Amino acid sequence: MHITTPPMGWNSWNTFGENPDESLIMEIADAMVEKGYKEAGYEYVVIDDCWALKERDGNGKLVPDPQKFPHGMKYVADYVHSKGLKFGMYTCAGVMTCAGYPGSYGHEYTDAKTFAEWGVDFLKYDYCFFPKTGNGKNAYLTMSLALRATGRDILFSACNWGCEESWKWMRSVGANMYRSTGDVFDTFTSFRDIVFAQKDNFSMSGPGCYNDIDMLTVGMYGKGHVGIKSGCTDDEYVMHFALWCLLGAPLMMGGDIRNINEFSRNLMQNKELIAINQDRECRPPVIFADRIYFKILENNEYVIGMFNFKDDKTKINIAFKDLGIPYESGMGLCLHNVITGEELGVMRDYYMATLEGHSCLILKGKLCEV
Ligand code: GLA
Repeated sequence: MHITTPPMGWNSWNTFGENPDESLIMEIADAMVEKGYKEAGYEYVVIDDCWALKERDGNGKLVPDPQKFPHGMKYVADYVHSKGLKFGMYTCAGVMTCAGYPGSYGHEYTDAKTFAEWGVDFLKYDYCFFPKTGNGKNAYLTMSLALRATGRDILFSACNWGCEESWKWMRSVGANMYRSTGDVFDTFTSFRDIVFAQKDNFSMSGPGCYNDIDMLTVGMYGKGHVGIKSGCTDDEYVMHFALWCLLGAPLMMGGDIRNINEFSRNLMQNKELIAINQDRECRPPVIFADRIYFKILENNEYVIGMFNFKDDKTKINIAFKDLGIPYESGMGLCLHNVITGEELGVMRDYYMATLEGHSCLILKGKLCEV
């Protein structure tokens, strides 16, 4: 499938883990519309692991757990579609999923066909229990081609956690996004370490195939179920969301969007941050000293993200000559604060800010004469 901007949506795993069910998914679809997420650009409602029975049926097909999905998957897909949204599901390249449900190894064409019949628009393809004798790259290619053979447009979300440096080849095998790291936890150190691990690989992420650094934990405040779950502060969630936006990563929400607080809802619906994320050129940011992220958008707007990953208050300074705007150019930047909307006016030569520990400042603007 061809896509031109990073996918946006919701995934059941981080908050609901082993308990996705029909009414949850339908309520999430309702919340996507009623609480403004759809209008902000979020599109996919994705059921992660633990939706199936532990055994395939007599024809070798995957079977939705009738306790969790009493009307089957087509029914859920139809409901999601009736809201103008798209429907996503999950399976695994190995013999079992990570939580021990049947995997698609050796069943790729049957399963792809089943998903297409149910009306699936997005498939996350995990990597647990992959046979030692198998070839991982070929496994992702096989499912990619099986999805294509269905004739239905299905976004292929590969998830092998960066094994075999997946950022180098997932685009070639037809993935539209590829998980490049282990699972995100709802903590500051978790999203920080994920970004530090991948920040140099975003030159290989762009239109068609995006580096997926896992779900957004924004708004969970420790209510998830994955790994350590101490939760983050509001400032930390701003850093998390802003980083995902500046890096052009897929925006898959992991919180319970039926009742996320207003702060986090507004943050995840911030129009300017989303527009930065969805910028069609998807240029990766130039990163200075691990804390200044500079990015040029398709319309020549400049974005400067200043991130204080330290615990203490820190002064951060960006010299405009490093952005190609030396003093002699007679040009400056006319900047505003993306989070507060505050106009900062024309800045020349440099911009310096003092940031509290674990906080950031996101500025955007255009070149202007001074
Ligand atoms: C792996 C993936 C997660 C999630 C779980 C489900 O850990 O990385 O994102 O899909 O499996 O079991």
